[in-house]
Amino acid sequence: MKLFFNSIFVFVLLVLCSACEKPKKKIQFPKTDLTKSALIPVPLNIQASYDAFGLGKNTVIYTDDQNTLYSKIGQFLSEKIRFRTTLSLPLNASAESVDNDSPENSIYIVESKDTSLSASESYELEIKQDSILIQAQTPAAAFRGIQTLLQLIPEKRNDTLKNSPLWVIPAGKITDRPTFSYRGTMLDVARHFFTVEEVKKYIDLIAYYKLNVLHLHLTDDQGWRIEVKSWPKLTEIGGKTEVGGGAGGFYTQSEYQEIVDYAAERFITIIPEIDMPGHTNAASLSYPFLNGTGKPLKSYTGTRVGFSSFDTRKDTVYSFLDDVIREIAAITPGPYIHIGGDESFVTKKRDYKYFVEKVEAIVQKHGKNMIGWDEIAEAKISSQSIAQHWRTVENALMAAKNGNKVILSPAKKAYLDMKYDSLSKYGLDWAGHITVDSAYIWNPSTFVEGLPLESILGIEAPLWSETISNSSEMEYLAFPRVIGYAELGWSTPENRNWEDYKIRLAKQRSFLEKNDVNFYRSPLVEW
Ligand code: ACM
Repeated sequence: MKLFFNSIFVFVLLVLCSACEKPKKKIQFPKTDLTKSALIPVPLNIQASYDAFGLGKNTVIYTDDQNTLYSKIGQFLSEKIRFRTTLSLPLNASAESVDNDSPENSIYIVESKDTSLSASESYELEIKQDSILIQAQTPAAAFRGIQTLLQLIPEKRNDTLKNSPLWVIPAGKITDRPTFSYRGTMLDVARHFFTVEEVKKYIDLIAYYKLNVLHLHLTDDQGWRIEVKSWPKLTEIGGKTEVGGGAGGFYTQSEYQEIVDYAAERFITIIPEIDMPGHTNAASLSYPFLNGTGKPLKSYTGTRVGFSSFDTRKDTVYSFLDDVIREIAAITPGPYIHIGGDESFVTKKRDYKYFVEKVEAIVQKHGKNMIGWDEIAEAKISSQSIAQHWRTVENALMAAKNGNKVILSPAKKAYLDMKYDSLSKYGLDWAGHITVDSAYIWNPSTFVEGLPLESILGIEAPLWSETISNSSEMEYLAFPRVIGYAELGWSTPENRNWEDYKIRLAKQRSFLEKNDVNFYRSPLVEW
């Protein structure tokens, strides 16, 4: 029935708009070729029709206005078009209210039940001379389609085709869907704190490249960054430090929710990480009963790892964690809680396993699925939990054998905090240098030998913050490499090619500059 109404909706819109339009002179657009557009991630299928759509002041955006999510996507598109072009395009305007008495052409964002669009985040974008139609089964998928359309809007307007400027969009048809359902990046806000505004800027940028996950590494030895109302000293004491001795900081629960909501408007899931039982000096400093090392506690603002641990055999530690996870689960709509679990070098192996199994039960009790760094595969975890491969191939294989899905973040390929080369201004090099081409040239589907494709949930590029403390420094390490990871997560191996990618990447410069992104001008790319 819904299908029927949706079809009626599209039909009525198309008829209404063709009836209300006066016959128009066909514009002679310059020759275009949709297949030559600098789209990242490269779509699954592009067919060019060598015609064009002139985006101008009389373009109107239509969505199903009964469906608030679709209207919001239309509004988002309108705002982004205004930022890019200065055009103020009305949304769902009636013909009478359109400036200059009739819409020149229209953009439709439409829910479709077409079975060809049933894959998650699958969309179709059809561009003709007088209409653009984005069809998708879900708002998330329509939102991905919007990004493709935005990327097709040229930087330069054409002032000669009509008496008002037009932005010429090449015509044709794109059918598209992602390879992996999980396409993420991580930001370490614990080693250095990043403000809500800085996190929002990063979210907005990654949305443009169709990433759908932002993992926030919220706690570490150097700082605790999320308010827990039942344990206030975590932020009163643990939130006041960071690497290098700066002031640190933390998100109140309402600030965290502001980040979650901002991400949700871009169909990005926030995954909160509470790293444990190691990486917990800031927590134990706040509540010393948590400490399991027997060593005296001091605040820590250096960059060593592996020296702290919770006491894994104390019931009060688990009551504490029950409160922490309950409060964080309650303000996290996404399905996952990340428990860290990496580099617990001073936790005895059997205590480590016992701990991971206990914490998994707490996470599940609060309605979430557990993610942990690949070491968690050493414990007896349930098959719903997810291992994030960063270092040890055996752990990734063990997880897959146990029925766990695996997220791929191999440090030597996917760590955004590795230096580009010896001249890099920021970054570390323990996993090697990662040039922009090396970051791109690998295949997540086959990278870990013996890891079945069915076990791979997707990829994530983590950005650790030992050497960076603000947006500008963060962007230097993240951009442009994160754009390549977005393509690795979305596009098929058959459609990926460095020589072609580097040309499309060079064309991102205007977007990055317009958004004030301090990207690394790799000499491998002709910017
Ligand atoms: C990690 O890099 N310690 C997960």
